[in-house]
Amino acid sequence: MPKPLIAANWKMNKNIEESISFINNFKNSSKKIKNAEIAICPPFTSLNEVNKIIKGSNIKIGAQNMHYEDNGAFTGEISPLMLKDAGCDYVILGHSERREYFNEDNQLINKKLISALKNNINPILCVGEKLEQRENNQTFDVIKGQLTNCLKNINKEDAKKITIAYEPVWAIGTGKNATPEQAEEVHKFIRGLLSKLYSNISENTRIIYGGSVKPNNIKDLMNQDNIDGALVGGASLKEEDFFQICSYSD
Ligand code: PGA
Repeated sequence: MPKPLIAANWKMNKNIEESISFINNFKNSSKKIKNAEIAICPPFTSLNEVNKIIKGSNIKIGAQNMHYEDNGAFTGEISPLMLKDAGCDYVILGHSERREYFNEDNQLINKKLISALKNNINPILCVGEKLEQRENNQTFDVIKGQLTNCLKNINKEDAKKITIAYEPVWAIGTGKNATPEQAEEVHKFIRGLLSKLYSNISENTRIIYGGSVKPNNIKDLMNQDNIDGALVGGASLKEEDFFQICSYSD
């Protein structure tokens, strides 16, 4: 299994100056983080500046979204080539906020995944059920539908490069994280599904958890067999909190 991945999803927060200040401080403390790979996903406007600062450190950067075409008449969009140019190793795709507010469906997310992989950007593919779906016992069906449709026509070699983020929608930004047992149950299901879709990759696929991850719950989450990291929103905006999350194993 590769090192766990702890990724910061800043969403639509921090201007360039605030991003620079965070990274300058975090870069120093990040030298102490040995047991996890760190990725920061700032807004597009900060990518280039953040990329300059992280050079020579163990921090990687990622984007929060991208278009699937390399270039062209797509006003307001950002292409995978532009993300590479700005230094991105990762891109978050299919986040529930994109699905909910920007009508992204599995078919579109599948196109974005294929494009990211073609351009050597490692996708973090988000899946997760809504509260109502959980209450109606549809969690596994929802995850299965999202995963199988998003991974359509993606071969085994490419699938190996994808990190899956399980983010129950009811846990995002609510302060109500899934219990470690609830998360583990779904992570195990996802691993099982991956081994049906592709032989022999599931043991090496990182399945990370997202949804109200905080310094005080990360350890219990990471103690689960099938949780290989975290995608952190709100708590990644403060250096101290994010550092504590990244140092969960100390
Ligand atoms: P949260 O967000 O940590 O603020 O719940 C997680 C996410 O949306 O990726």
